[in-house]
Amino acid sequence: MTDPAFADFVRRLPKAELHLHIEGSLEPELMFQLAARNRITLPFRSVEEIRAAYAFSNLQDFLDIYYQGAGVLQTQDDFRDLALAYFKRLAADGGVHAEIFFDPQTHTDRGIAFSIVIEGLRAGMAEAKETLGVTSSLIMCFLRHLDEDAAMATFEQARPWLGTDIIGVGLDSSEVGFPPSKFAKVFAAAREAGLKLVAHAGEEGPPAYVYEALDVLHVDRIDHGNRALEDEALTKRLADQATTLTVCPLSNLKLCVVSDLTQHPMRKMLDLGLKATINSDDPAYFGGYLLDNYLATADALNLTRDDMVTLVRNSFTGSFLSDSEKADYLARLDQASDQ
Ligand code: ADE
Ligand code: ZN
Repeated sequence: MTDPAFADFVRRLPKAELHLHIEGSLEPELMFQLAARNRITLPFRSVEEIRAAYAFSNLQDFLDIYYQGAGVLQTQDDFRDLALAYFKRLAADGGVHAEIFFDPQTHTDRGIAFSIVIEGLRAGMAEAKETLGVTSSLIMCFLRHLDEDAAMATFEQARPWLGTDIIGVGLDSSEVGFPPSKFAKVFAAAREAGLKLVAHAGEEGPPAYVYEALDVLHVDRIDHGNRALEDEALTKRLADQATTLTVCPLSNLKLCVVSDLTQHPMRKMLDLGLKATINSDDPAYFGGYLLDNYLATADALNLTRDDMVTLVRNSFTGSFLSDSEKADYLARLDQASDQ
């Protein structure tokens, strides 16, 4: 059990979340509400039945149910409500900034217009800024189980929003068998357009995928990166060049990347000088939002207040905020960590 004073200290630290799939924040209650609103019949009779189905033995188990759940999202208001619900949870956890992933292909492939998705999310983001003071930006992910032509078509659809609302592109979905190099051309186009680049790598996939993300895609951050630790040279390189890793401990537990949180590599990552951050990934499916991830990890690995501050500091320095925005948030963090 976490000491309440420790929990309160961590909650008060202003934090950024850098690895959050907005579709993965769809709580069963909202899923039911949206299903009713859109006259969709879910294959579950109750919220409890949905939660009971959330027992995964690997990434694919989860993805199957996650893509199915996203089917209730139909209108601009649905995407707005989804985003706003997430921001409320984030703000309650002391979150002040989020760089949010969304999966446009999950929606456009079932006939929902790209503009519906993004305008809905933008409305939620604007409302969060106004009512909660939470800032945010969007990272558009390509589904790696689909081909690169589909990713390129999505990239073209996104053109009107690139560089303003969409600040970067990412790569997610089933990892093993779908190496980053498969998406070299679309990432080159995104780089050409001045976007930030990230990719999931080393969650289930081997260290070779992390190398490809760095050397072929030229990513600015690695999402997850756990398996990079299997390669000593890669680990040293990530530490030397201070590559931000967006690590998701409760996700790793629920998707059986680790057998137990006491076995989580976060302690080792910090000891090796890696620039790790803590994030929630798909909190509605993995049983915890941002603060839960910090506290569960601290509890399992005996992390200290200083470790918490280091991780939070990394969340800002590893963000895609401007230097002046980073400086403002870091000053707020310094103030909160002194109290
Ligand atoms: N899509 C949503 N969550 C994901 C994860 N943890 N890994 C890969 N793709 C995802
Ligand atoms: Zn993820």
